Amino acid sequence: MIDEQEIRRASILVIDDAPANLALIAGILSAANYTKVTVTADPVEALDLFDAGGVDLILLDLNLPEMNSLELMEKFRALDFEFQPPVLVLTGQCDRHRRLQALRGGAQDILSKPFDTDEVLSRVHNLLEMHLAHKLLKSYNTQLEVAVRDRTRKLLRTQAEIVQRLGYAAEFRDTETGEHTIRVGRYSHLLARQIGLSNEESEQILYAAPMHDIGKIGIPDDVLLKPARLNGEEWAVMKTHTTIGARILEGGSNQLLKSACTIALTHHEKWDGSGYPSALKGENIPLHGRIVAVADVFDALTLYRPYKPAWSTEDARRYINQMAGAHFDPVLVEAFNDSWDQIASIQRQYADKKPISHYNEAWLDKIGPAEARL
Ligand SMILES: [Fe+2]
Ligand SMILES: [Fe+2]
Repeated sequence: MIDEQEIRRASILVIDDAPANLALIAGILSAANYTKVTVTADPVEALDLFDAGGVDLILLDLNLPEMNSLELMEKFRALDFEFQPPVLVLTGQCDRHRRLQALRGGAQDILSKPFDTDEVLSRVHNLLEMHLAHKLLKSYNTQLEVAVRDRTRKLLRTQAEIVQRLGYAAEFRDTETGEHTIRVGRYSHLLARQIGLSNEESEQILYAAPMHDIGKIGIPDDVLLKPARLNGEEWAVMKTHTTIGARILEGGSNQLLKSACTIALTHHEKWDGSGYPSALKGENIPLHGRIVAVADVFDALTLYRPYKPAWSTEDARRYINQMAGAHFDPVLVEAFNDSWDQIASIQRQYADKKPISHYNEAWLDKIGPAEARL
């Protein structure tokens, strides 16, 4: 399985206090065409050489005068390389106890002095072959894992792109900007990270949040685009965008669609139970819905809509804080405040391409609370 040339090119470190032994082993190995053999009589130097990395096999004399060989093996292991090279212990002793100690201490094999050339070469060859095969397998597995991760990410991206287009479809009818859905995704992602959700779950929210208003596809234009306050009947129709959205997205087999469905259904629930469609309260509102509620309201407030002017960023921020514990989960409002700098930078980075009209108090007085119909 491992190429013979590769075995001959492996790096071998020989540690023995007797120069004659070092010369003998180096001679045997070089005669067998091993090209990277380093010898040392000094255990401290051996540690440095080992620490520099790349050693594939260690031949270690069991009776070093300066440092106990078992101790040295422990120090090798403490360096904790991903691929610990095997240790082949060299000993002149017939002492069974000492040999067992070496094997239990981590040595893979033992060579007795005086050396038998064929035996030295066979053991060296076997240990190197095993070590290099292990390394190869590990790197193959790593490559495979990277490839699988890469494919999974690409798949998620593809799913995300498709579902994001759905989000645009709804947004396209509702406002003149598609950036709102992107920003809501980004803010939601940020909040999810801030409260400690995993990368994976936060990424689901990033891609699922833009679909929060997908149900607006099912709202008639005369309600959706009405440039004034809605009457009671129209308002009831408008609220159904949550359940319509959930119907569009329900039954999905992947987590992304499941999250999107939850968000579509629950992004208008309020912490104090006064939201819709189910008047859920507090933590009964799914977390993904609570997260998107903050992101969506904040962004929508800063947007111009046919029925409301755009709020300044500071006013929108203040509003989010005022509504902590009423509309919003207080923990998420705290996360919102803690990540304010990043929120502001997302706002700049994904600013609307079209200019938006600005906050106008007189108009605001005329149309009433600007958070209505977000
Ligand atoms: Fe909505
Ligand atoms: Fe929205």
